[in-house]
Amino acid sequence: MIDLKDQIDLSKLPRHVAVIMDGNGRWAAQQGKERVFGHQNGVTSVRETAEAAAELGIEYLTLYAFSTENWNRPADEVEALMSLLVTTIHNEMDTLTKNNIRLNAIGDLNSLKPKTLAELQSAIDQTKHHSRMVMTLALSYSSRWEITHAMQCIARKVKNGEIAVENIDNQTISNHLATAGMPDPELLIRTSGEYRISNYLLWQIAYAELHFTTTLWPDFRRQNFYEALIDFQHRERRFGKTSQQIKTELSKT
Ligand code: FPP
Repeated sequence: MIDLKDQIDLSKLPRHVAVIMDGNGRWAAQQGKERVFGHQNGVTSVRETAEAAAELGIEYLTLYAFSTENWNRPADEVEALMSLLVTTIHNEMDTLTKNNIRLNAIGDLNSLKPKTLAELQSAIDQTKHHSRMVMTLALSYSSRWEITHAMQCIARKVKNGEIAVENIDNQTISNHLATAGMPDPELLIRTSGEYRISNYLLWQIAYAELHFTTTLWPDFRRQNFYEALIDFQHRERRFGKTSQQIKTELSKT
C-alpha cells in the first residue's frame, strides 16, 4: 500500500491545523447504534490525528469538540459527551506524555460542570511542559462568543484609557481572542461532507485553506490526515496577490 506520508513535503507543513470533527451521529446510525457510540469511536480518530500531527512536526492542532450550540442537544447526549471528555482526557494522559503534547482548551470553560473543568484543568497543568505540539480542544466554543468577549475586553480597556481607539488594529483583536499567541490556522479540515464553518475560528481562518472530506469522523485515520496535508500543499496560497506575483516571489527564494 502506498503510504501518503511519503508524498508530504516536510518543509512546507502548516504550523497550525484546525479540525471540525463531524459525522459521529451518522456513523453510529449506519451501524444501527445510538449517537454516543459515534462519539466514543471518534476518540480513536482524535488519537490518530494527534499522533500523526505531532510526528510530522505540526505545532498546533485545534479540534472542535463541543460548540456553544451543542448545549441545545438532548440532555442525555450532552451528558454522555461531557463524561466521554472526562474519561478520554484521563485515559489519554499516556498518549499526551508519550508524544510530548501540551493540552490546551478554548471556549466558555466556566459553563462546563466543575468535575469536567477540574479534569481538564488538571490535564492542562500536567502537560504544560510538553513542547512538541499544542493540542487545543474548543469546548463550549463559538467564534461569535469569542469575538464578542474580545470586543468587551477591548472596550473596557479603551474606557480605562489602556488602549487608544485609533491604535486598535488586526493584532489588537487577535491578541484578545482565545487563541492569542497562536499562529492562525493555515489549514481547516471538516469531515462528513458538510460544507460549513459552523461558527469556528471565523477571524483566525481568514486565509486558511479549506479541506472538506466526505469521510465521517470515526473513520478518519492517519491517511486521511495526510491526504488533507497533500491537498494543502498543492494549493497556491496568494493572500490577495496575483498568481504572477507569487511565482516571482518564489523564484527569488
Ligand atoms: C460532531 O458529530 C461531533 C461532535 C459534536 C463531538 C466531537 C467529539 C468527539 C470526537 C469525542 C471525543 C473528543 C475528544 C476531544 C475527547 P455529530 O454528532 O454532529 O454528527 P452528525 O452530524 O452525524 O450528527
